[in-house]
Amino acid sequence: MCNPGNEEIIALFPQIARIGNPDWTEKICEAWRTVLRQSSWNSLAECCFYPPVPGVTLVHHINAVTNACIALAGTLMKDEGIDINMDVLIASAILHDLDKPLMFEEKDGKPGFSEFYEKYQHGFYGAMVAKELGFPDSVVTNIITHTAASAKLPSNFEGYILVYVDLIDMDWHRLGSGISVNLSKFK
Ligand SMILES: [Fe+2]
Ligand SMILES: [Fe+2]
Repeated sequence: MCNPGNEEIIALFPQIARIGNPDWTEKICEAWRTVLRQSSWNSLAECCFYPPVPGVTLVHHINAVTNACIALAGTLMKDEGIDINMDVLIASAILHDLDKPLMFEEKDGKPGFSEFYEKYQHGFYGAMVAKELGFPDSVVTNIITHTAASAKLPSNFEGYILVYVDLIDMDWHRLGSGISVNLSKFK
């Protein structure tokens, strides 16, 4: 369990500073605190990304996804003329794996899967935390639909960007760890 302040969370997720709505900055920090207070982790920085991929932190993955979402959105706006809501995209990216500190826990000094992981479909609880804090449906549904576990497609194009970017970052780490890639589900 840990209870980080806004400064610590913003330092770990620096792209929060690009969000124009200050109310969302506070809500993002509160969303992470809500989950971390319920978790077994001693700090946000220590949370693991996925137990079969050792050595990669959740913060590293979320920052890689957020940075890639921003970069891809920039080219799509320029090349395709797509109108992208950057606040929705960045908030969705920073919050998409909000439930992971509850899905994983340290067991005998190594990250493993928790009872929460066995009971709850990925994406569901993080979305509920975001909804309780007052995020709009655009962000809440993007948290649910970012994962292949979702039965629904994203309700907005920012959610599509998040799905593809998250998949490629996951597959980069899965390739490195020799486990099956998500792309194989499409073949
Ligand atoms: Fe995820
Ligand atoms: Fe992710």
